[in-house]
Amino acid sequence: MHARITGTGGYLPAKVLTNADLERMVDTTDEWITERTGIRKRHVAEDGETTCDLAEQAARRALEMAGRSPRDVDLIIVATTTPDRVFPSTACQLQRRLDVHGCPAFDIQAVCTGFVYALDVANRFVQTGAARCALVVGAETLSRILDWSDRTTCVLFGDGAGAVVLEASEEPGLLSTHLHADGSFENLLMVPYGVSQGYDKVLAGEAFIQMKGNEVFKVAVNTLGRIVDETLEHNKMDKAEIDWLIPHQANIRIISATARKLRMPMERVVVTVDEHGNTSAASIPLALDVAVRDGRVRKGDMLMMEAFGGGFTWGSALLRF
Ligand code: COA
Repeated sequence: MHARITGTGGYLPAKVLTNADLERMVDTTDEWITERTGIRKRHVAEDGETTCDLAEQAARRALEMAGRSPRDVDLIIVATTTPDRVFPSTACQLQRRLDVHGCPAFDIQAVCTGFVYALDVANRFVQTGAARCALVVGAETLSRILDWSDRTTCVLFGDGAGAVVLEASEEPGLLSTHLHADGSFENLLMVPYGVSQGYDKVLAGEAFIQMKGNEVFKVAVNTLGRIVDETLEHNKMDKAEIDWLIPHQANIRIISATARKLRMPMERVVVTVDEHGNTSAASIPLALDVAVRDGRVRKGDMLMMEAFGGGFTWGSALLRF
């Protein structure tokens, strides 16, 4: 049994923060942000608007495109690093909102690679017959774990959610997924406090993203170069057979480096980082949804997804849409 994406959905909070807005908040310029990252604006959740709120909208849109109702769903996986609560998981909260009862529902935390991890797990459920209609969501409110006085991080991230419906199919859809992690890089990118290691620090507002950006950049470019090679070799496929690169959207320079490695012109790369910033686990399903809805990605196209994030984690997926 194969697993195919039959619907996509995306949702961005209404509030927009432009580079000009950030110029008024920290010592930065529109020129610096645009040149170094490609980001022009990002969406930010309003007070009280949560990851699950965004996830629900994206999930409903994906189900609608797939022509499925919530009662068809028999697996819910939400990739997030910014859950609404310690528990229940965001997936369980989403399940309640969709009025779905009884199917497995759980969160996956692999930071910016979270969606690829979730897709891999859902694929295994579908391939083994344990699920026939999975809802796979990447949803984040990264704005909540940013220090808005730190110009080296606050200009980079945004909030949003993307979702896909992954269904059992006779036709091949997902061809392969490749997951990796190496925890030894934690000092380059982390939130230094969490539940077990100092909840008081979380409550005191000290649990914010810390990053050595230029070091992360170098590792990301090299690692993503390797994962696209691994993916092509595994499938005995030539670069030229990829129709669309759907990368994690962290920085246009990282995206361009991977595109060059694949010898893909930027017209074949879905770029949303300019409009969304880095939405972590939401960025790939959001980008996919944009390109499906504007007619670029069509049924039968060969897609390569790749992501890199905190952990470090990294991964890829090759699929026939
Ligand atoms: N505005 C203006 N100047 C800024 C700035 C900002 N928002 N942020 C940093 N700077 C300054 C730095 O202080 C530094 O100044 P200095 O030379 O006087 O010390 C200078 O710009 C260069 O900083 P550097 O970090 O070397 O820049 P960079 O070209 O590497 O770009 C990133 C910084 C963060 C955009 C880039 O490294 C990056 O995208 N890294 C990967 C991030 C990422 O993808 N993280 C998530 C993984 S999913």
